[in-house]
Amino acid sequence: RQIPEVRIVEVGPRDGLQSIQDTVPTETKIELIQRLRQAGLRSIELTSVVSPRKIPQLADCQEVLANPAIKRLIEDPEKLGLQLPVLTPNLKGLEIALSRGVKEVAVFISATERFSQANINCSIEGGLERARAVARKAIQAGVAVRGYVSCVFVDPYDGPTNPSSVLHCVQELLQIGCYEVSLGDTTGAGTPAKVATLLRYLEKNSIPLKRLAGHFHDTYGQAVANVLQAYICGIRVFDASVGGLGGCPFAPGAKGNVSTEDVVLMFQNAGIQTGVNLTELIATGDWINQQVRGSSDTLPSDYCIE
Ligand code: HMG
Ligand code: MG
Repeated sequence: RQIPEVRIVEVGPRDGLQSIQDTVPTETKIELIQRLRQAGLRSIELTSVVSPRKIPQLADCQEVLANPAIKRLIEDPEKLGLQLPVLTPNLKGLEIALSRGVKEVAVFISATERFSQANINCSIEGGLERARAVARKAIQAGVAVRGYVSCVFVDPYDGPTNPSSVLHCVQELLQIGCYEVSLGDTTGAGTPAKVATLLRYLEKNSIPLKRLAGHFHDTYGQAVANVLQAYICGIRVFDASVGGLGGCPFAPGAKGNVSTEDVVLMFQNAGIQTGVNLTELIATGDWINQQVRGSSDTLPSDYCIE
């Protein structure tokens, strides 16, 4: 088995499902995680422990984490070669995650004020303060912390983002102990040119690219191109969602995450290892789309595999 050259962080069970209107049964969420693992994904964001009023779809996060099959994965992810982060916005979320034996959490802030208010009900600095408190306690408990900065290009309410705010947020998240910071193009407004400009700017300001990940939403069909551009610039970690599901209910108009199938297909056809079995992944995307959308229009996968 070859060592993957890029790491894909599958966010389907969290970002993918969080804004779906109809309640997805807990068993479907559990099966999704298991199928993704089966397809070779090694980093899977399991769920989020957030206000159930804000994200009703993931109100069953504790049931997901307590399920025996998931519990077995959570207990010793390292032994299984897995990373299984859970999104936690505050100490309450962290405490619940810790009580379920979670070994990795993700904190999230926005580089812009209005999305921060809409999403987590506080300012940029207030979000950093919460993230700092979560990271401190998580690290004390031996739990790894991943960070997200949202709206790196455009805020859905404020418009274009000031890159200096992205830099400040990334610096702070690294400083509080995040092992990696994912750059969230929440609105999907990024283009390859914007990606290259932002990454060059961050690198010039002493941010190591190996500590960054790309998190692209596909509102304008640019997400795969953005992944490729970020790869060309030196990024090796990409968040993606099976079936292209996803989106944040507080970013109106934004579409799903870049589809994991598209990312794996692109890298595979370029001879770049991802460690993911594309055929199984496509079957999983097909299945979850049937479950949540009642339809799937997948063509046979060998049409596009070179
Ligand atoms: P708040 O209203 O300021 O906080 O919310 P609060 O502390 O006053 O709590 C309000 C209620 O939520 C209380 O319940 C708390 O107990 C409960 P009530 O007394 O009203 O019944 N509560 C919680 N329940 C479960 N788990 C918790 C928790 N915390 C409080 N952890 C808060 C602040 C941050 C909690 C809220 O605004 C929230 O949950 N926001 C999260 C929204 C969210 O999940 N958005 C989507 C994820 S971010 C995203 O998609 C972007 C990303 O993909 C990257 C990108 O694309 O850019 C990561
Ligand atoms: Mg997202």
